[in-house]
Amino acid sequence: MSKTATLEFDGKKYEFPVTVGTENEIGIDIKKLRGEAGLITLDPGYKNTGSCESAITFLDGEKGILRYRGYAIEDLAEKADFLEVAYLLIFGELPTKEQLSKFTNDIKEQSHVDEEMKKILDGFPKSAHPMGVLASLTSALIAFNPSSVDVSSEEDMYKAIVKILGKFPVLAAWTLRKKNSLPLNYGDEDLGYVENLHKMMFEKPNKTYKVDKAVIDALDKLLILHADHEQNCSTSTVRMVGSSHAGLFASLSAGISALWGPLHGGANQAVIEMLERIKEDGGDTHKFMQKAKDKEDPFRLMGFGHRVYKNFDPRAKIIKKSADEVLGQLGVEDPVLDIAKGLEKEALEDDYFVKRKLYPNVDFYSGIIYRALGIPVEMFTVMFALGRLPGWIAQWREMRLKKEPIGRPRQIYVGESHREFKPLGSR
Ligand code: ACO
Repeated sequence: MSKTATLEFDGKKYEFPVTVGTENEIGIDIKKLRGEAGLITLDPGYKNTGSCESAITFLDGEKGILRYRGYAIEDLAEKADFLEVAYLLIFGELPTKEQLSKFTNDIKEQSHVDEEMKKILDGFPKSAHPMGVLASLTSALIAFNPSSVDVSSEEDMYKAIVKILGKFPVLAAWTLRKKNSLPLNYGDEDLGYVENLHKMMFEKPNKTYKVDKAVIDALDKLLILHADHEQNCSTSTVRMVGSSHAGLFASLSAGISALWGPLHGGANQAVIEMLERIKEDGGDTHKFMQKAKDKEDPFRLMGFGHRVYKNFDPRAKIIKKSADEVLGQLGVEDPVLDIAKGLEKEALEDDYFVKRKLYPNVDFYSGIIYRALGIPVEMFTVMFALGRLPGWIAQWREMRLKKEPIGRPRQIYVGESHREFKPLGSR
């Protein structure tokens, strides 16, 4: 294979090196394009732009493959737990027993926040969306942890990482407690990470906390499936903000805001709302399929389609199976599961969806499980953020360790050319 790519423009030829990844993905390295040819590339939505070289997550959208640090998502979801996966993503290797035990204990040591944070939470109206509250509280953490991370010190970096992994579930759980008018609490260090999170979310002041193991196992799996997804919108946001050397917590807060949008993590909430709407409308999936295909109608089939997957999203496959199992184990019957399956069947046989390679994505079935686990709809995207946290951290760490330059895209200006200024009186 040629090691260079040639661009011909205006009678001149320019050579650019190509970079080949471990899985044979090829990128034309255009770092010198503007310097040599005075040109830039134009790629709204970065559909064809590689923003970095990364060794964290590999996905092949055509074949439906997703791997964290080389390990198949199917194996990790089946055989590992969330903190093992977090360690793997952030530090590159599966932890030994000793490493995992230290990591877990260090996170536990940090699983509390400054009491003053309660006052900030108190200032939000109860109607505030938990994602907005979570982004604000994560940002507020900076005020209580003002010293920025010295990225040249592994120890400093490690401390910041266990700090946020410890404190984030407390803040996430509190956004729900605030909504439900429950007293703010702390977890129990004898519990595992995911059970502790669940306890902080749902413990009632007048009841002994108990939870079905099937609930914790399902939650653990969901968090693993969401833990990283290479250069998606929120991750790119984290890397972009971090590239200005803003700190880890500030970068994460920006990532949470990016995740909130319904075209990204917010889709899990939008899917359940859509399925409910179809149910209330009489359950006619065909009618909504027609709406989704009608270009005059803004309705889209939420939970369908993906920027990268042009085949089944492997996470959706695992989650669909899990939805059946969890609902069975918990004895929950949810009529929207049938609507979801009906929609999926119709879409997979429909020319419009087949031609555009639109398959169910991770969010199509996750909301159904969250609901069966008793998680309110407005918390769905918060659950996604809890899962994505290790991925954001890993990507931020990689970006800082590689000393990547500040992110600063170019543009093609299409506005007015120079105009003479007219004083107010003569306009
Ligand atoms: N329903 C109906 N039509 C769709 C859908 C959908 N869900 N998704 C894409 N299309 C159509 C588009 O209208 C477009 O049609 P056209 O070629 O005739 O113009 C074509 O498929 C390509 O769609 P784009 O929007 O150009 O694809 P893009 O890669 O920009 O968007 C996205 C991907 C945002 C995920 C899109 O498929 C979508 O909006 N899906 C619904 C929201 C959703 O589920 N988001 C979650 C994504 S997963 C995640 O972030 C965790």
